[in-house]
Amino acid sequence: MSRNLIEMLRAREGDGHPTALASLKEALERDGEITDDARRHAAAVSGLPEATVYGISTFYDDLTETRGRRHVAVCTGTACWASHPGDHERELGERLGLAEGERTEDGSLSYGTTVCLGFCHSSPAYRDGDVVDAGSGAFERVASGQAAQADEPEGTTLTEEPVLLGRGTFSGLRSALSGSTPEALLEEVKDANLRGRGGAGFPAGSKWEFARGADGEEKLIVVNGDEGDPGSYIDKHLMERNPELLLEGMALAGFAVGAEHGLVLVRSEYPHSTPALREAVARAEDAGNLATTFMAAALTSTSRSRRAPAPTSWARRRRCSDRCRGCAAP
Ligand code: FES
Repeated sequence: MSRNLIEMLRAREGDGHPTALASLKEALERDGEITDDARRHAAAVSGLPEATVYGISTFYDDLTETRGRRHVAVCTGTACWASHPGDHERELGERLGLAEGERTEDGSLSYGTTVCLGFCHSSPAYRDGDVVDAGSGAFERVASGQAAQADEPEGTTLTEEPVLLGRGTFSGLRSALSGSTPEALLEEVKDANLRGRGGAGFPAGSKWEFARGADGEEKLIVVNGDEGDPGSYIDKHLMERNPELLLEGMALAGFAVGAEHGLVLVRSEYPHSTPALREAVARAEDAGNLATTFMAAALTSTSRSRRAPAPTSWARRRRCSDRCRGCAAP
């Protein structure tokens, strides 16, 4: 189905109905697998053709593996593989009595693989439900059903004013809202030569300026929390241990470009990121740090894909207050 046709359907029917991805995830959680009936149901509720839904259901790794009530996965990312080349994957499968992708007949246990869980420093890493175990003794704990959450590494900084490790306080946002304008903030970011950290180092000020000048009534701040290079989990650190800093950055970007709300794309390999962000959003709203600005924070959890993650899950949104600046919302 063409994008135009989908947009026409959405415009006619509104966007209140569930997405195909949400429906498929619900079926996976309920039944442990995606059946053709589940695909047909997802097509019916989303308004998409069955062929399109089939493509969605076979694209994401999360949707293609069967799930038991307990799901154990071994990390086969570069660092984990290099630490124990391939053997930990086979050995854990033998201990559990399952091959990769299998589920016990009674549906109590399933076994699969995953990619970087953010514990490369103590690889190999394993996931048992939402518990990520890694380091000494992890294999035995997971194999015996006693997985324990691995400790996060301590961070240190050599700078007097640490950025990643400096707690987000929303002071920059308060300062911008009380004494600046979107245009002035844009200039400040450009003058500071702030650059993206996604690899290309693209100037953030230019990107924000393009977004501010883009056509369209509604603008949205999308934070890409996906990562996966071995040993690189800055996004995980920010989302789980300094989420206020991330939210403040989103709010500042929203102020500069005139966006009313935002989304964070979270890898499903990071089971603790979405709860941490949700709690931070609630704290920020309770403290008036987001609710009294124009920024309506929203979080999105992704289905794992080794190719191209995409947003799913929930979003929430809050109307602008009268302290809002630079946004076209009512
Ligand atoms: S590659 Fe396994 S935790 Fe990073």
